[in-house]
Amino acid sequence: TTIYLKDYTPFGYIVDSVHLTFDLAPHATRVKSRIAFRPNPEASDKTFFLHGEELKLIRASIDGAEVTPDVTDKGLTASVPDAPFVWEAEVEIDPGNNTALEGLYMSNGMYCTQCEAEGFRKITYYPDRPDVMSTFTVRINGNLPVLLSNGNPTGKGKGWAEWTDPWPKPAYLFALVAGDLVAHSDGFTTKSGRHVDLNLWVRPGDEGKCAFGMEALKKSMKWDEDVYGREYDLDVFNIVAVDDFNMGAMENKGLNIFNSSAVLASPETSTDANFERIEAIIAHEYFHNWTGNRITCRDWFQLCLKEGLTVFRDAQFTSDMRSAPVKRINDVIELRARQFPEDNGPLAHPVRPESFQEINNFYTATVYEKGAEVIGMLKTLVGDEAYAKALDLYFERHDGQACTIEDWLKVFEDTTGRDLSQFKRWYSQAGTPRVKVEEDWADGTYTLTLSQSTPPTPGQPEKLPQVIPVAVGLLGPNGDEVRGTEVLELTDARQSFTFEGLAAKPVPSILRGFSAPVILEQDSTPAQRAFMLAHDTDPFNRWEAGRALATETLLGMITRDAAPGSDYLDGLLAVMRDDALDPAYRALMLGLPTQSELAGMLHDKGVTPDPMAIWTAVETLRQATAQHMQDLLPRLHSQSLVDGPYRPDAEQSGKRALGSAALALISRLDGGTQAATEYARADNMTLQLSALSCLLKSGKGEAELAAFYEQWRHDRLVMDKWFGLQVALASPDRAPEIARRLTEHPDFNWKNPNRFRALMGGLAMNHAGFHHASGASYELLADWLIRLDPVNPQTTARMCSAFQTWKRYDADRQDLIRAQLIRIAETPDLSRDTTEMISRILAG
Ligand code: ARG
Ligand code: ZN
Repeated sequence: TTIYLKDYTPFGYIVDSVHLTFDLAPHATRVKSRIAFRPNPEASDKTFFLHGEELKLIRASIDGAEVTPDVTDKGLTASVPDAPFVWEAEVEIDPGNNTALEGLYMSNGMYCTQCEAEGFRKITYYPDRPDVMSTFTVRINGNLPVLLSNGNPTGKGKGWAEWTDPWPKPAYLFALVAGDLVAHSDGFTTKSGRHVDLNLWVRPGDEGKCAFGMEALKKSMKWDEDVYGREYDLDVFNIVAVDDFNMGAMENKGLNIFNSSAVLASPETSTDANFERIEAIIAHEYFHNWTGNRITCRDWFQLCLKEGLTVFRDAQFTSDMRSAPVKRINDVIELRARQFPEDNGPLAHPVRPESFQEINNFYTATVYEKGAEVIGMLKTLVGDEAYAKALDLYFERHDGQACTIEDWLKVFEDTTGRDLSQFKRWYSQAGTPRVKVEEDWADGTYTLTLSQSTPPTPGQPEKLPQVIPVAVGLLGPNGDEVRGTEVLELTDARQSFTFEGLAAKPVPSILRGFSAPVILEQDSTPAQRAFMLAHDTDPFNRWEAGRALATETLLGMITRDAAPGSDYLDGLLAVMRDDALDPAYRALMLGLPTQSELAGMLHDKGVTPDPMAIWTAVETLRQATAQHMQDLLPRLHSQSLVDGPYRPDAEQSGKRALGSAALALISRLDGGTQAATEYARADNMTLQLSALSCLLKSGKGEAELAAFYEQWRHDRLVMDKWFGLQVALASPDRAPEIARRLTEHPDFNWKNPNRFRALMGGLAMNHAGFHHASGASYELLADWLIRLDPVNPQTTARMCSAFQTWKRYDADRQDLIRAQLIRIAETPDLSRDTTEMISRILAG
């Protein structure tokens, strides 16, 4: 069944309070609920339906009188008074056999929950929808040392604990944790003087991996006060790390639950990239306390209301803590790698979808990352000051409410007087807009003509023009900036903008800072790109010029058998020689578009991508780059030897990133000799893993892989890297076989989402290996999706997106993939999650 945004109606009853009692037992946990309801005067439909799935109803009563509701596998209905009443129920659940990791489940002997989006209905009967908000009191009975729930602790004894959450919340923010845990504790005093106890709860043995996450939390709390004026509102803030978790983390009120990969860190076991991701996710979940929890979503179609805004906020935080240009470039790399394929394929959907079968399938790059881009465009259009005013009004007007995108846009309309009805198309139209550039120059006047169009997406054949903020600067012939950045508002299908009084024809720097999530189509010569690479004053566009040069070089090699030109190689060399440039920025300059992105671009040009030809072009360009920069490489590599002890900050990690990129090029020249030395002397995971990668790419590293295994077999998170790396870096011809062999490894705990994703995600990331002409990788992935689906539908459905680009490829590969998609679709009792994903992929 499909659910539609347009069908929204409020629930017939208001919940005034919820009391829950848990008697924990692995296979027979009893949950008693006492819920105060009253009729909702705003609602016409007074059906009393409570969601409930996989529950054994023991008894139910209304105002103390036993009742026998009508129970189905989706929930129950009962007849209730037309006046306030108290509903009580007792149910039994089986957390020990809950492998879907939704609702109350067990991970390594520890009880934990994941309720967003619709998991609370697997805990007890309840109106499990985000617009029903209530205070919760929770008593936990269980013989475990640590018993946690939302809010503040209000009672505790041997074998029990009570928690009270004074802030009304929807059920998706409910959480419970119980287990043998140890805390890394600290404190924070808010600007108005509230003292908050902070705890990061982990399994014994992981205490040494908490310090970084705790510091990130304190920085986040301070930043949200300083930048958004948002204070924390409880006496405690608990974070728990769990090993089995479908997503990154969850913002449950006062009790955030994290995938251990998103919080545990140490220099020996985590890379610089891991540290940065952890800092961002801690911030993200903390920021949800205001953008998500105090102000939540009316229904799940509004998911981007909290996710887009919170991703935008965490990106601002990372920019402030680290380098803003580096963060922006990394976000655009991610957007192009994950969101653009979604927006340009069968899974395309608007930032605010209008229908779904399974909401878990819509926690996507479009809702999150494009959702954040939309907020960024809004801020660019109204300006920083108006943005701040609008946000103040948003918090003031909507605190305690469950809101919509209409509410969100209204605060901007009310503070700025702008009409945002056309801007709103960013929320309703799927697909990535293309912006085409034409130039004209006459008598000191320069004219830029921009045209926009968005290709059709499933269910949306026709697109209307959107409001696109295009940040533009103009450079003079010598590379000096003759016009600083200004924001052009492209609102029509085609529109011209003039710049007067110029002495010479300028060179435009368009879409500075990637001011809109669009594809810019600009016919520039390699010489013009090289000029921008040398001179653009906007750090994003300077990087973009290098990226465009690299991309065009690769496309020329693939389609015309061209040799790598000097514009790219010399331009890059000049940048890499410039020691005044941030090492992190230079490391980004050395990057190339992914092979999958190149396949997408070829497809857009009407060329059927050949994965092996793409792989060969990338290898050839890498080799040419290494030769061209040969003399410089030792100096670049020496950057990774930093002063002082390991610090995962922007400065040191930037140097290591540049050093590692240099080592990768050196390995192409010396066959991995130096990488072997670096592997042996590495004293942190960043350097250890980069050296190991170089060895594997050089066709070496067998001994190091085995040694790595012995060194780290006790550490799950490091073992995920071990699995992922071998598959992701395998040569294309061997990838399917290496992946298959690893699925037989005793440490391939496929029921653990991190381990499953490490291996299968690594295979999908190995573009030419995944698209092995035999179809062996397709078949292997399909085998495992079919096996995982009955155990964990969410993780299975998510991994199906590896097939989303299938229509790009040749007829033989399409036939091979189609056969696997059909095989999955025809599996008996396939989950709703996977059924929806496969049918959308097949239809598109
Ligand atoms: N709200 C969480 C976050 O973005 C993600 C939870 C996703 N859960 C899910 N079942 N899809 O921080
Ligand atoms: Zn979030």
